Amino acid sequence: MERTLAIIKPDAVQRQLVGLIISEIEMNKFAITAIRTMRLTADQAALLYEEHRAKPFFDSLVAYTASGQLFALVLEKEDAIEAWRQLMGPTDPAKAGPLSLRRRFAIDIQRNSVHGADSLATAEKEIDFFFGEGV
Ligand code: CMP
Repeated sequence: MERTLAIIKPDAVQRQLVGLIISEIEMNKFAITAIRTMRLTADQAALLYEEHRAKPFFDSLVAYTASGQLFALVLEKEDAIEAWRQLMGPTDPAKAGPLSLRRRFAIDIQRNSVHGADSLATAEKEIDFFFGEGV
């Protein structure tokens, strides 16, 4: 079993899509082994996305991520990292397949409703960020 870190982002929480997205997670046979809801400060959001610090959208991404409540989840399944990325679809919802969460729920490339870790190392780092001692 592999585990990954998923986020239901502020745009989805604000539009009351949490239940629908969790239903999709369960229908796709992920086990939810941890869940918490919180609102990040701008400093915490900047830390979460520090790999994007040099990108032109960084300040806007931090402001959006800290703009409201989010849900962080630990998902377990065989090949969980890739399976969750497939279910989400690509970052840009305009390029996502019709059944993907981002195509169905995202507003635009920034307010794209869900996040997932992109590697084993990132998954462990992000799980620690939300469920370790830090936050
Ligand atoms: P996520 O998969 O959480 O990882 C980085 C986030 O940055 C991404 O989802 C989007 O929310 C945001 N992002 C990525 N590319 C862009 C872009 N070109 N413009 C604005 N936001 C972006």
